[in-house]
Amino acid sequence: MPGPEVEEVKSRLNIVELVGRYVALKPSGQRFKGRCPFHPDDTPSFLVSPDKGLWHCFGCHAGGDAIGFLMKIERLSFPEALTRLAHELGIEMRTVGGEGKAKLLQVNQEAAQYFARELRKPSGKKARDYLLGRGVGEELWERYKLGYAPEGWDGLIRALGRVGLDTLGNLGLAIAGEKGHYDRFRDRVMFTLCDDQGRPVAFAGRSFAGDPKYVNIPNTSLFTKGTLLYGLDLARDAIRQRGRAVLVEGYTDVISFQVAGIEETVGSMGTALTEAQARLLARHTDLVVIAYDRDAAGEASALRGLVILRAAGLRVSVAVLPPDEDPDSFVRGQGADAAQAVLAAALPFHRFFVGALASRHDTGSVDGKEQVLVEAKAFWPEIRSVPLQHELARELAGLLSLREEEVWRYLRGEARPTLPHLERERIGPEEHFVHFLLEGKLPDRVLEDLDLTEFRPEYRPIVAKWVELWQGGKRPAADELASVLTPDQVSPLTRLALLEVPFSDAAQAVDDAVTRFLYLPRVNRRLDRAQKRLAEAEAVGDAEQMQRLNAELQALCQERIRLLRRR
Ligand code: UTP
Ligand code: MN
Repeated sequence: MPGPEVEEVKSRLNIVELVGRYVALKPSGQRFKGRCPFHPDDTPSFLVSPDKGLWHCFGCHAGGDAIGFLMKIERLSFPEALTRLAHELGIEMRTVGGEGKAKLLQVNQEAAQYFARELRKPSGKKARDYLLGRGVGEELWERYKLGYAPEGWDGLIRALGRVGLDTLGNLGLAIAGEKGHYDRFRDRVMFTLCDDQGRPVAFAGRSFAGDPKYVNIPNTSLFTKGTLLYGLDLARDAIRQRGRAVLVEGYTDVISFQVAGIEETVGSMGTALTEAQARLLARHTDLVVIAYDRDAAGEASALRGLVILRAAGLRVSVAVLPPDEDPDSFVRGQGADAAQAVLAAALPFHRFFVGALASRHDTGSVDGKEQVLVEAKAFWPEIRSVPLQHELARELAGLLSLREEEVWRYLRGEARPTLPHLERERIGPEEHFVHFLLEGKLPDRVLEDLDLTEFRPEYRPIVAKWVELWQGGKRPAADELASVLTPDQVSPLTRLALLEVPFSDAAQAVDDAVTRFLYLPRVNRRLDRAQKRLAEAEAVGDAEQMQRLNAELQALCQERIRLLRRR
């Protein structure tokens, strides 16, 4: 999504001034230091680098660029934060193709009608059978704007011929290929995604078999991923009347629940709930009952979703479905009363949260207990409500057989003594190597020879993205990466970008990092392998092979010595 405005905003913005509106910053060398606004911090562990355009907290690991800072502190979506900064700086936001919103909505409306017509044609039989087979009767097709995208490459493009290809492309309905435009949706059951006023802003197409299960529309000027709740237009009144919303994941979950009389159901469209979706819900209610597939609900990303809902001021409880059921299969198999009963038995947020941590770690072991605490602490800065903090600490203390005050002090970051080794940050050759990569200081011959599997998993997306942009002809700065990576990926990025590598000779320091991270371990691995093969050859008495391997070992040892001398 980053358009030209993003770069312009970032280049004209003074990140120290922006952050300084919320945090008292003091100069410290090239950077500025302060107390982190995202967790209780008396160290201070929060750093801002004006030349890199990045910030990072070495306490809670939050980090990002200026836009990310504003998003986090003001709880804004990306477009909201960008628009606000652009407005402040007097930068005009580009609208897609200069087309008006009304016109684009009209085109989507026509596309929805086209898919609906195709569903009723003879060639739509397979989609009709599919829907009927899933219990979605004909009387529901219009209400849910369901349809069929036929086989072939340009059915929609021809049907909406008057509309320019650019417009269809902007709406995500057509894709520009080498031989011209073609339909995004082919041979799929179509779901229409509407805004809370019931206007069609995007589509999703389900395959009959095979992956991906759903094809979605990318971000357009009508639709930003993570800002919509499926079915909200139909659920609005019921949510108000019943004083709660039921949150499920999938399109079919929404339809089946609503049809079963749980009309206050909306869909998050995948597991990771966003802050924008939480705020949208908070506009309509203050109570949310989550009914996710069981496996999805306990995942870290889903837990984060729950915390986001809490942070938006919502009361949250979690309905636990039987294993291997999703709301759709459950309500169709067991009926509406059973579904209502599961919702009525939903667990309060803190119970569920602690239960989910417990189910993912072995709380009988010291290691497991430490893991539970570390994970709970990662969520802690997001839990703003003091009574809820106390409830969580109490539940955790019970679970781990610790004193509540101990848990409390650890979560608040006041106590480290019990878990020192988990707190320490790793800084070794690999960290130096990625730091120099982000600085653009690694030579081409090294860059050409990178293997992602040699990196720790949390660094891989960073390295992969950097190399991808480098192959496209530039050496991207760290803050450019910050706007294309996810928040989880940005945290190690800002940490490594802001790492201070002490050295007297820059070229020597780079060379050192390359040798120690890349070349030495490679030689060591080859030595290991050669030694193993030599032992095998000795075992079977293969003299010729032994001779060859001995020569190889000698060469590798010499290579190793040469590398060690270079340092
Ligand atoms: P599910 O895999 O649970 O699908 O994903 P579902 O809704 O139960 O679909 P059916 O019942 O098998 O047809 C939940 C939601 O995650 C998003 C969709 O919004 C889906 O409804 N999703 C899933 C995608 O966007 N793409 C995918 O490939 C899969
Ligand atoms: Mn599902």
